[in-house]
This record gives sequence, structure tokens and C-alpha cells, in this order.
Amino acid sequence: MFTYKNWTAIKRSLALAAGLMVLFAVLDSTLAEERVPGARYDDQGQLIRADGWREWVFIGTPLTPNDLNDGKAAFPEFHNVYIDPVAYAHFAKTGQFPNGTMIAKELLSIGATQAVSGNGYFQGEFQGLEFAVKDTERFPKEPGGWTYYDFGHRLPYETAAKAHPTEACAACHEAAAAYDMVFTQYYPVLKAARPK
Ligand code: HEC
Repeated sequence: MFTYKNWTAIKRSLALAAGLMVLFAVLDSTLAEERVPGARYDDQGQLIRADGWREWVFIGTPLTPNDLNDGKAAFPEFHNVYIDPVAYAHFAKTGQFPNGTMIAKELLSIGATQAVSGNGYFQGEFQGLEFAVKDTERFPKEPGGWTYYDFGHRLPYETAAKAHPTEACAACHEAAAAYDMVFTQYYPVLKAARPK
């Protein structure tokens, strides 16, 4: 029988369920904010190489072939560039690179120069890994808070690296990169993602 008493009990359980749902929604959003992986450092302040960069968001492949650079390109040769997915999502939403942003640039040799599709440049072997990391709180004196790392030029790469001096890397980025120290002019994926 439906009575006033069980109606009160039903109302109470509904209110409890609604309350729990609000609580879970709040918890979810807090955890999501805390999930930002971001850059991590070891005890000596070296950047710990984040794994999985080949599965991050792929933003472009600049190519500086040796044969267009007197046989010695400064950064041989293909550069596969990836941004960590949390930073990408933030960039696509706000147009800003958040603190903790990691951009990986993996260098590859040119392998074949002919394929069934025609003559060209086709990727050969991995031959280097570099990271750019933004953190204005940790590196307030570096231009835009960006620091630059090199994990070596043969496999397996180093697992940690110390920041290069500002003149070695950041200075050129500051002088020539289109947006916040990043060469977005060469990354159509980022140009398209940036909110208008
Ligand atoms: C002479 C200028 C110059 C210097 C010096 C330089 N870079 Fe760059 N860097 C570039 C250019 C241009 C690009 C984009 C096009 C390309 O990859 O060739 C780039 C791209 C990058 C990227 C991809 C993210 C981005 O900002 O576009 C990383 C990571 C990077 N460089 C790391 C380094 C590191 C590490 C050093 C120091 C060892 C360094 N760079 C020194 C010119 C420079």
C-alpha cells in the first residue's frame, strides 16, 4: 500500500541519490584537474624522460635534409614533433600552453629516396630525442618559462636530461618562433586547433 510514510522514505532516498551524484561529479572534476601529467624532474633537477611520446598528439614533421644543407644540417633530418595530450587539449580550448607542457621532437634519418609513389624523402632510423618544456613557476628566468633537453642521439635514449643553457636553445626559439617560443608556423595542426 502506498502511504505517506513510504512516500517520505522514497523522497529521502531520491534526495540522497541526487546528493551522491553531485558529490561524484565534483570528485570527477577535481581528479581530472589533478591528472595533468606534466613534466617531472629527478632529485638532481633533471627532466625525467616521459615515455609514450610517439602516442601523443602528432603536430608535424619539419625536414632539414643534409643534402639541402651542405651535408650537415644542424638538426638532422626529419623532426617528428608531438605534444602531450593534456597540453594539447588545454591549447585547443584556451590557445595557451599550460605549465607542464611537453613537446617532443624525435629526429630521424632519411632512409629511402625512391618509392613506388615517386622520388622523395622517406623516414629511416630514429636518431635523437629532444624535449621542450614550459613551466613559468619552475623556470621564471627562462624566456616564456621554456627549457630545452636532449636525450641523446642513439637508442636507447637517456632516461633523464639536464636543461640546456638559455643561449644554446631558447635564444633561437625566442627570436624566431611564431607563438610562445614554439614554431607554430610549421605546425598546421596547432594552427588549426588554436581557438580563433
Ligand atoms: C638556430 C635556431 C634553433 C636552435 C639553436 C634550436 N632550435 Fe629547436 N627548433 C628550431 C626550429 C626552426 C624548429 C621548428 C622547425 C624544425 O624542427 O626544424 C625547432 C623546434 C624544436 C622543438 C619542437 C617544438 C618547437 O618549439 O617547435 C624542440 C623540442 C626543439 N626545437 C628543441 C631544441 C633544443 C633541445 C635545442 C638546443 C639543443 C634547440 N631546439 C635549439 C630552431 C632552433
